[in-house]
Amino acid sequence: MKALVLIGGFGTRLRPITYAVPKQLIPLAGKPMLYHVLDLLPRDVDEVVLATGYKADEVDRFVRAHPPPFPVRTVAEAEPLGTGGGMKHAGGGLGETFYLLNSDVIASADLAALGATHRRSPRLGTMALAEVDDTRPYGVAALAEDDRITAFVEKPPPERAPSHWINAGLAVWSRRVLDRIPGGRAVSFEQEIVPGLLAEGVYGFRLRGFWDDAGTRERLLRSQRFLFEAGRAGDRHRPPGSSGPGPIAAAADATADGATFGGPVTLGRGVEVGSGAHLEDCVVMDGARVGRGARVVRSIVGPGAIVDDGRQVVDELVGAASGDR
Ligand code: GTP
Repeated sequence: MKALVLIGGFGTRLRPITYAVPKQLIPLAGKPMLYHVLDLLPRDVDEVVLATGYKADEVDRFVRAHPPPFPVRTVAEAEPLGTGGGMKHAGGGLGETFYLLNSDVIASADLAALGATHRRSPRLGTMALAEVDDTRPYGVAALAEDDRITAFVEKPPPERAPSHWINAGLAVWSRRVLDRIPGGRAVSFEQEIVPGLLAEGVYGFRLRGFWDDAGTRERLLRSQRFLFEAGRAGDRHRPPGSSGPGPIAAAADATADGATFGGPVTLGRGVEVGSGAHLEDCVVMDGARVGRGARVVRSIVGPGAIVDDGRQVVDELVGAASGDR
């Protein structure tokens, strides 16, 4: 089977970081978000197609420099086509059924089991569903006893949400769905297409473990905590001369002599953390500098950004001053 990964969004909720870098390349627990998503795929997937758009060249360069464990092809959109338009545009050659993944989902999910469930009975699609308290930002499914989806409502007000089971952004679809998406314009797959597919057999696959949409600062950092706890961190290097419980995943050339780490931290390549600085629950991206005695908590420091000596950064997204807009 092949997998189609949607990676063309603007990542507006993570600005200004996403002015400089697509959100899927933000490292969590020492590994870019996109690579944590690809880790979910069964090893027998024979090709991953990345439907790119915003900062497509950067994604392309990155996957060439750091090849994932699957053959990867990128198909870039000249204009944003939305999730459905992106599927239509990039979906040629996907085979009879394919995985469809959002590229900002951090989860404990067995996608081989999702694929097996899909093959168990004739159907058009099987969507992984996560159970959440606040359904407002998501597409919400109503389910029959056999987990057939009987209604799907995108971002309903709480009183109109048919359940607490939401679209987890991980699914298997028959390629026939691509014929149902109009070409040549932006289309939201979830809003415009999915409700019209239900009559042909779309089933839910209920996830039981951790799931999050890592598209906001808070949720991205919560996902990072989960990845460390689950033993799914990337590079676990700890800069010499630093102390504190961490956990920490730092690039080999990051320096932090005399700094302390009070919680989960990722340090990208070339990061310099000054003596006496304290970091917890944060991501500091490539080439950023955290000054002496600064304190960075529950924050993301973007590539090349500078936190001045002694500055307190709490619950912030810090971009480079020049901004790359
Ligand atoms: P926000 O702007 O912060 O909402 O983030 P986003 O742009 O990523 O939007 P959202 O989280 O709703 O997108 C869900 C998934 O679809 C993500 O994996 C996006 O990268 C992807 N996506 C959103 N819009 C497009 C698009 O126009 N084309 C493609 N190829 N993918 C898209």
